[in-house]
Amino acid sequence: MTLIETPRQAPPAVVATGLTKVYGQGDAQVHALRGVDIAFETGAFTAIMGPSGSGKSTLMHCLAGLDTATSGSVHIGDVELTGLGDRQLTLLRRERIGFIFQSFNLLPTLTAEQNIRLPLEIAARQADQQLYDRVIETVGLRDRLRHKPSELSGGQQQRVAVARALISKPQVIFADEPTGNLDSRSGAEVLAFLRTSVRELGQTIVMVTHDPVAASYADRVVFLRDGTLVTEVTAPTPQSVLDTLVKLEG
Ligand SMILES: Nc1ncnc2c1ncn2[C@@H]1O[C@H](COP(=O)(O)OP(=O)(O)OP(=O)(O)O)[C@@H](O)[C@H]1O
Ligand SMILES: [Mg+2]
Repeated sequence: MTLIETPRQAPPAVVATGLTKVYGQGDAQVHALRGVDIAFETGAFTAIMGPSGSGKSTLMHCLAGLDTATSGSVHIGDVELTGLGDRQLTLLRRERIGFIFQSFNLLPTLTAEQNIRLPLEIAARQADQQLYDRVIETVGLRDRLRHKPSELSGGQQQRVAVARALISKPQVIFADEPTGNLDSRSGAEVLAFLRTSVRELGQTIVMVTHDPVAASYADRVVFLRDGTLVTEVTAPTPQSVLDTLVKLEG
């Protein structure tokens, strides 16, 4: 008898187990995360949504090693974050994680190209020239590479930030409201680019957003309320995301 083999799947890029985060002490205690279990598949685009104060940024910061959880564990690939020292965490962030924030965090005195190459410079790594060309082509910034951030539109600046995150081929990119400061056209540009990088480069992306349209670019949307994961939507549309949010807030 032959067994039907299930397709071999890459292990998840990020796994959190029993994650809790308590801020403050005594009367001032805030339980920002109350036991979150979640896995983020490799090569998938996941959005995290939920009401203000539900723990989205806290979750992302704990997953990315920018903050330490009170209890529970986080794995990035085969590395467990819990127990790593500051220096090891810095190295892990540098080598395995890409970040995109709401404010573009570009260095104003460097050109677009220098900003994009910065993480590699810091890690003293050579750029994969093929990947570099592909990223520059995909972001559509070839003719803007010598410009300083102040000479670029908001959407172009955010695309530089996205290119900078992609260029070191991180195991996962964490994005906190990456289109929050953009008009809707620039936002759509950046989201389409994130989508393409998942499809064509196999990038893993975890994105916090308030915007149902932004979330609909993801493969999967998970919803937090009061520090707990309450539900998720796969193959989201703006409408299915909105319906779920309305139910959650109600
Ligand atoms: N440094 C901190 N000290 C104390 N409490 C904090 C701290 N950071 C966050 N909190 C609290 O933890 C809870 C979760 O905050 P978090 O920033 O994760 O929410 P969020 O879902 O990202 O909200 P928003 O949508 O408004 O960005 C909130 O009640 C917040 O007030
Ligand atoms: Mg937040």
